[in-house]
Amino acid sequence: MSRRSLFLLAATLVVLHFTIIVFMLSPLHGSRRTFYTSGYHHRYSMRGAPSVAWCKDLHFKPPGPVVALISHPGSGNTWLRYLLQQVTGVMTGSIYMDYGLRTHGFPAENVTDGTVLVVKTHEAPPVDSDKFQAAVLLIRHPKDAILAEYNRLHKGHIGTAPKSAFKRKSHEHRMTDWVKFVSYQLTAWESLHELWLTRFPGRILVVLYDTLVRDTGPSLQRILDFLNHTVTKDDMSCALANREGIYRRRKKLQDFDPFTADMYQALDRAHGRVRDLVANYSRKHNLTQTRLENVAPLK
Ligand SMILES: *[C@@H]1O[C@H](CO)[C@@H](O)[C@H](O)[C@H]1NC(C)=O
Ligand SMILES: *[C@@H]1O[C@H](CO)[C@@H](O)[C@H](O)[C@H]1NC(C)=O
Ligand SMILES: *[C@@H]1O[C@H](CO)[C@@H](O)[C@H](O)[C@H]1NC(C)=O
Ligand SMILES: *[C@@H]1O[C@H](CO)[C@@H](O)[C@H](O)[C@H]1NC(C)=O
Repeated sequence: MSRRSLFLLAATLVVLHFTIIVFMLSPLHGSRRTFYTSGYHHRYSMRGAPSVAWCKDLHFKPPGPVVALISHPGSGNTWLRYLLQQVTGVMTGSIYMDYGLRTHGFPAENVTDGTVLVVKTHEAPPVDSDKFQAAVLLIRHPKDAILAEYNRLHKGHIGTAPKSAFKRKSHEHRMTDWVKFVSYQLTAWESLHELWLTRFPGRILVVLYDTLVRDTGPSLQRILDFLNHTVTKDDMSCALANREGIYRRRKKLQDFDPFTADMYQALDRAHGRVRDLVANYSRKHNLTQTRLENVAPLK
């Protein structure tokens, strides 16, 4: 082999080596193919993961009351944060530090003060009651939330779990991992809503995930009114034109239903109890007709 071809071979190997390292360091390399692209313009960053095209540059706001954005995992928290950032340009915070989210559109992860619009949490109301002055409670039917969360644990923020993941058993157990997961998650789902609706001293705005999907504009406006944040018509149009974002899981038609009849019964009963809690909350706080409309159609 000539000296020249040896040199070319060595150079190729070096380039290949670095390409592999860069690929492995990229946190989203496994799920790139599944990015949801419809109606949405990506700018590709150097590592190939899309960065979000914002309606306006994200910024902090002047300090104000700290508002929690509460939800059970899998209830659309990230999507609502995305919509709020699109329509206001103000960053949303979180009590967590999700490095993936931080590098892909949510730079204020781990910011929990009044300089962000809302602060994401999946936890019960803090004992230190001064931490949050008000709260937005995002409620999704536990069936959909639990399935979305199971998908997230298996495939990241935007994929779906394979069928086999619903049959798997950790060997010493009689029940499948999925059955245990549903039972555990449902208990957590109900207690999260119950604790906030009965123990939190501040004002709570209930937002139903299904309503947010169906009537995105009016739902967003109601949240902005609650936050005392004014936006222009153009801000709203831009946010709605970009409503899909990159973090919504592509809905895949599954050829089987992972929920059993017993699960359906338990899910619906828990959902009914939370619907009653919401109705009681609205009654107790004399919520206006609009608000009641917002909470009434929990189905
Ligand atoms: C989160 O913020 C707190 C206080 O601002 C800081 O002490 C902590 O190191 C941060 N956590 C991470 C993981 O960056
Ligand atoms: C919005 O304004 C009202 C009336 O001034 C106030 O009571 C409420 O605390 C404010 N809410 C937030 C989240 O700032
Ligand atoms: C709602 O309030 C009614 C009447 O006060 C009470 O009987 C019922 O138990 C409450 N529901 C829940 C789920 O707390
Ligand atoms: C709700 O309205 C009733 C009667 O109009 C009043 O007695 C009560 O104090 C009000 N409660 C709140 C929390 O505003």
